[in-house]
Amino acid sequence: METALLKATSKSSVPENALETVVAVFSVSDPDSGDNGKMVCSIQNDLPFLLKPTLKNFYTLVTDGPLDRESRAEYNITITVTDLGTPRLKTQHNITVQVSDVND
Ligand SMILES: *[C@@H]1O[C@H](CO)[C@@H](O)[C@H](O)[C@H]1NC(C)=O
Ligand SMILES: *[C@@H]1O[C@H](CO)[C@@H](O)[C@H](O)[C@H]1NC(C)=O
Repeated sequence: METALLKATSKSSVPENALETVVAVFSVSDPDSGDNGKMVCSIQNDLPFLLKPTLKNFYTLVTDGPLDRESRAEYNITITVTDLGTPRLKTQHNITVQVSDVND
């Protein structure tokens, strides 16, 4: 069975200097039951973004504090969903986020 990552909404840009901005909302689904149906969702840990579980199988990707366009204007975020079965199934989804300038 296939692990699916279903993206509900996402923004391609976030304003700089904003506190916590929602970048994407998505759900994961795995039709398997048992360990094969348990999923772990992650992003790279060197990015100023957080993946927050909300409802069961729903996640929100938010900025972890203000972003500065002058230091980095673009982020490529890879969302990885793996289940706990053997073998582990893995699904990846890439999101590119631009930091928009709010100074002018
Ligand atoms: C993000 O990915 C795009 C397309 O693969 C690439 O052109 C761009 O350089 C990447 N940006 C960063 C900041 O890694
Ligand atoms: C997502 O980005 C990663 C890192 O740049 C790359 O290895 C992977 O192939 C990309 N996956 C998809 C589905 O585009």
